Amino acid sequence: MSTDPSAVRPGFVKSGALKARDNVVVVYSLGGHSQRLARQVADLLGADIFLIRTERYRWPVFGVLRAAYDAIRGNLPEVRCNVEQLSKYRCLVVGGPIWGGKLAAPVTAFLEAQPDLPQALGLFVTCGGMAPPDAAVKATEARLGRGLSALMWLPNKLENTDEMTRRLAEFRADLEKVIKDSPASA
Ligand SMILES: Cc1cc2nc3c(=O)[nH]c(=O)nc-3n(C[C@H](O)[C@H](O)[C@H](O)COP(=O)(O)O)c2cc1C
Repeated sequence: MSTDPSAVRPGFVKSGALKARDNVVVVYSLGGHSQRLARQVADLLGADIFLIRTERYRWPVFGVLRAAYDAIRGNLPEVRCNVEQLSKYRCLVVGGPIWGGKLAAPVTAFLEAQPDLPQALGLFVTCGGMAPPDAAVKATEARLGRGLSALMWLPNKLENTDEMTRRLAEFRADLEKVIKDSPASA
């Protein structure tokens, strides 16, 4: 997938509460799992998609060690993301991997830098294990001081399975319920 947001096609318009450009997906991915899932989510929601970037984990092996270290220490890296005017979107979906039982540091760093998150806020995470990421979700909600509108988690083993399709549909339905009651985008 191109990493240039301007090259990413806008999603198709769906009937119901979800309309193209009302929605945006923002993702961080080190190994590609979250980025692939982000594409599926964006297609399903008819959403723009943007990548969270950081230089901190870009070196092979060393980057992973740094990621593990930051997860343990709770360090947040400097991140950048080309998404503009987050407030113009009705729904924001943020995604990324689980690191050390927590939401990956670049995703947390991105979320914490946003002064104005939309009312409809979804989170998806990918993980290596089969255990639900309850602690990571709880910690994220505590940091944000608010609840999430919808959550999807996907172990790597379930990528491209019927179960993934089922979870995507459920995620979309949960978001749609909140979007119906959200203020229209500016
Ligand atoms: C530093 C590091 C820590 C990880 N910690 C966990 C973990 O605590 N639990 C888990 O289920 N998977 C863990 N994983 C696996 C990733 O969450 C999983 O492979 C994810 O799909 C990677 O997403 P990505 O390919 O988008 O980077 C870890 C991976 C890395 C690199």
